[in-house]
Amino acid sequence: MTGPATPAEFTGRRALVTAASKGLGRAVACELVDRGATVAILSRSRENLEAAREFVVEETGADEEALVLASADLHRPAETRGAIEDAIDDLGGLDVLVTNHGGPPVQSIAETSIEEFDEAYAGVLRGTFVVLKAALPAVADGGGSVVNVVSATVREPVPGDVLQNAFRPGIYAVSKALSREYGPEVRVNCVCPRGIVTERLEYKIELLADREGISVEEARQRRAEELATDDLGTPEGFAKAVAFLASEDADFVTGTLVPVDGGWSRGAF
Ligand SMILES: NC(=O)c1ccc[n+]([C@@H]2O[C@H](COP(=O)([O-])OP(=O)(O)OC[C@H]3O[C@@H](n4cnc5c(N)ncnc54)[C@H](OP(=O)(O)O)[C@@H]3O)[C@@H](O)[C@H]2O)c1
Repeated sequence: MTGPATPAEFTGRRALVTAASKGLGRAVACELVDRGATVAILSRSRENLEAAREFVVEETGADEEALVLASADLHRPAETRGAIEDAIDDLGGLDVLVTNHGGPPVQSIAETSIEEFDEAYAGVLRGTFVVLKAALPAVADGGGSVVNVVSATVREPVPGDVLQNAFRPGIYAVSKALSREYGPEVRVNCVCPRGIVTERLEYKIELLADREGISVEEARQRRAEELATDDLGTPEGFAKAVAFLASEDADFVTGTLVPVDGGWSRGAF
């Protein structure tokens, strides 16, 4: 039996997703548009953003107006703040904020200079702080939800990857505190990916192949075997978990982190 069509759950909602011209961020934007939201996507490259808009429009059948493009480099606070303020103006407010950032280079402490450490801090932890600071007042005004993309390594730091080990747990700690500071109007959570096929994962697979002297195919297989699912994940599957956290179905979920890692994490807690 078919009843009257129900409006998509994010109809009338306004969202901002950062680092969203590719990979996980673009998939999240696509999922939110598909569920009825108008979404601002932020990244450095205007060209990548335009390609992302084309992709989302093609995937969802939505109008181009469902997407607002915001170019900024998360390493540059004033530029990022300005782009976010303009995007929120264009959207007419903000109900959902998804913070995401470009992953830092994978390298050990011995391989990392102090300048590289500072650079990664600026892109990951300070960049996320700048986005939260610029966008939270709009989310708080009327209530909404924030989802911060971090990594499964927040709970289980991995050897030889000092830059993400250093800065992503800070995003989780800030997120946890913000859930109390901004609750009950705003829910704030983190989502922890691992093993999801994007350009970033392809880079890591190539790095693994290089370091271990194995083929790219073998390296891909190793990454898949780390998981309980025995198979790598898709950005679309990841995006559904983020959409759940951003939605009213998750209205009692806040101040926590949700792994979307194919069972990579070994810890019970
Ligand atoms: N894929 C996984 O399984 C996985 C696992 C753990 C953690 N993560 C983390 O999740 C995040 C997203 O991962 P992904 O796999 O989707 O990465 P990706 O495919 O490399 O995409 C990264 C996105 O970030 C944007 N970006 C990069 N640097 C930026 C900057 N300084 N300012 C603004 N935008 C920037 C890029 O767009 P432009 O080039 O247009 O700026 C692109 O849209 C990364 O931090 C990654 O390390 C991913």
